[in-house]
Amino acid sequence: MAITYQESTKTFFLDGKGLTYAFCVNDFDYLEHLYFGKTIGHDDIRYVRGCGGTDNNPKIPGVKMENGYNYGAIDCYQYFAPEIVFSGTGDYREPAVQIRTEQGDRISDLLYEGYEILPQKPGINGMPSMRDGETLVVHLKDRVNGFGCDLYYTVYDDAGVIARRAVYSNGGAGTVMLNRAYSFSVALPEIDYDVLTLHGAWAAERHVQRIPAHYGVVSIDSKRTTSSASLNPFMALVKKGATEDAGDVYGVNLIYSSSFVLKAEGLNDDRLLLTGGINDFDFTWKLLPGAYFETPEVVISYSSDGIGGMSRNFHDAYRNHLINPRYVGKKRPIVINSWESAYFNFNTERLKQIVDGVAGTGVDTFVLDDGWYGNRNSEFSSLGDWWVDEKKLPGGLGEIIAHVNSRGMKFGLWFEPEMISPDSDLFRTHPDYAIMAPGREGSPCRGQYMLDLTREDVRDFAVNAVNKILKENHIEYVKWDYNSNVSQSWSLGLAPDQQMEFAHRYALGVYDLFERIVNANPDIFFEGCSAGGARFDPAVLYYFSQIWTSDDTDAEERTKIQYGTSMAYPLMAMTCHVSAVPNHQTRRSTSIATRGDIAHLGGTGYELDTSAFTDEDRETVRKQVDKYHEVEDLLLWGDLYRTEDPFAGGYFGFMIVSKDKQSAHLTAYKRLAECNGPIKRLKVRGLDPKQMYYVKELDMTMLGATWMNVGIKPNFPFEDFATLTFTFKAV
Ligand code: DGJ
Repeated sequence: MAITYQESTKTFFLDGKGLTYAFCVNDFDYLEHLYFGKTIGHDDIRYVRGCGGTDNNPKIPGVKMENGYNYGAIDCYQYFAPEIVFSGTGDYREPAVQIRTEQGDRISDLLYEGYEILPQKPGINGMPSMRDGETLVVHLKDRVNGFGCDLYYTVYDDAGVIARRAVYSNGGAGTVMLNRAYSFSVALPEIDYDVLTLHGAWAAERHVQRIPAHYGVVSIDSKRTTSSASLNPFMALVKKGATEDAGDVYGVNLIYSSSFVLKAEGLNDDRLLLTGGINDFDFTWKLLPGAYFETPEVVISYSSDGIGGMSRNFHDAYRNHLINPRYVGKKRPIVINSWESAYFNFNTERLKQIVDGVAGTGVDTFVLDDGWYGNRNSEFSSLGDWWVDEKKLPGGLGEIIAHVNSRGMKFGLWFEPEMISPDSDLFRTHPDYAIMAPGREGSPCRGQYMLDLTREDVRDFAVNAVNKILKENHIEYVKWDYNSNVSQSWSLGLAPDQQMEFAHRYALGVYDLFERIVNANPDIFFEGCSAGGARFDPAVLYYFSQIWTSDDTDAEERTKIQYGTSMAYPLMAMTCHVSAVPNHQTRRSTSIATRGDIAHLGGTGYELDTSAFTDEDRETVRKQVDKYHEVEDLLLWGDLYRTEDPFAGGYFGFMIVSKDKQSAHLTAYKRLAECNGPIKRLKVRGLDPKQMYYVKELDMTMLGATWMNVGIKPNFPFEDFATLTFTFKAV
């Protein structure tokens, strides 16, 4: 049984793959956290309750202590770790919830009411969430004002994660304003952890930062109404001394695409309290009597196998239970994308040349990027005018699609459905569709405004416009871009006391769009994108399965971006393209071999001017595509071991091992050529130590234990930015 309620101790045990999560109903009817870590027995562990706090803390009303003192006792809110930190009672830790009733009551004293175990995991209304798994729901309620909270917990037998969320409800007679509505709280019993987060910017997404947790709050967030490139909705807690390969690591990842917050609070009793969810900055939600509010789900991973183990847990969880099942395990399209070869400057003939240049190499999909609609000759016009620009493409898309298909390839098209350009027919007709506060001059981002997707009529427009093009043309791939950040968040459709619902309502609007466009076109392969990888989050993955990782396609910079992204997201979720040199972002030149090896660590493709391809170029691409197909199953299903850290030194290494440990692939990269450089052994990880493996590139057979403990002596080409690849086969 994955979920057990032990009546005698009033303890809930949640047993997932390699982990146990336990909490009890304590003597005062609060849910008290007991344990989260490696699998344990169902013993009475309530002796860990409480803490050693000695502050002057308000007592739980009605609780009488024999000696009349608080010292060392569990008679104060602050003295135990609740499953959800509520507020107003005299608990001074970061609350997960804050309310205000019509009377101005701001207390949520959440007491245990009962539980249910659901064999089928319920979805969340209008929001993406993990599928499958036995689910526990625990009902909590403030017995004075009727405010309620249901806590949902799901465990999996094939991934070392639990999924959690909270549903808040108004069981009182008047309206409640929810000023904070986080998804979870969980307290680790010690503070000696590092906080690992993924920060970045355009073309530098998901760089890794590891800093010590401390007394007080380490907080990351987004206020952009999108998950953003600045900080990913991911946080790992890495036990001091834990490494990539060993030690306790917890990871937290929100299935959410709007403004979020994640916090790690070091407490004076040396616990570390994790919490987070929807950002309470610029947020309130009006909850009428009888209404409820569902928070986004958070996926929490635990591993004793280091940071790598935490990542593999996320990868398994997302492949098995999050990514749209119709994409999981399916061979990915290998794309030639028009953006960097043509930008806005093309016509049908030019596109045909790009296609012809690469046809027959195994590249199987041509994607026509931005610039095909309205009068789109720069980023300053036409978003929302989703009709084909016949000056560039006379007669419409038919001719280029027919040409692509005649070369045995599929046709894909770029859209940016959430946007509206000030210079567009759409804006001239419907200026109110744009997000903009009344009486102010708009502040466009990349020359564009965002559509007010909190409004149903605006969503209907976007859905109909995109679906019309998809219906009228034979389109088999869509790249869905999003190049903006909201400003002046305000909606015509919201009452003044609901304007602070905007950021979350935008997320709900986006998910509605995804449902009605992505899920309504099941035969089309959808790729997410956001000015590169600025919306790379589990919610987007629920719909899209593959996301453009970054506009920075320089192999050197990509080693860091792909390394950081792999902390939470599986390789097949990342789109990685081979682009031209000098690279359009960094001006750096790297060899085609290196660009191929790094770009082939995900869903792959090419983004260069193939119209000028020679037979030799075509042969190079053909060989790269063949090599890619040899490792594709590993990329789809394998376990990732990060063997060399590009943030720590001059190397990068990804080793991918099949689940049955019969085959593996290692890509290693050396940043700079060195004269008389230090001795280097490439790490090998994840093999069966008792199994013999043949490595084709070295023509050597050794025991897994030997490969892993001795490593590989690399013979990198003597040049900067060089790669080597190795294939392991069990013999
Ligand atoms: C940003 C994307 O990341 C690029 O790949 C490209 O599609 C441009 N937008 C087009 O405007």
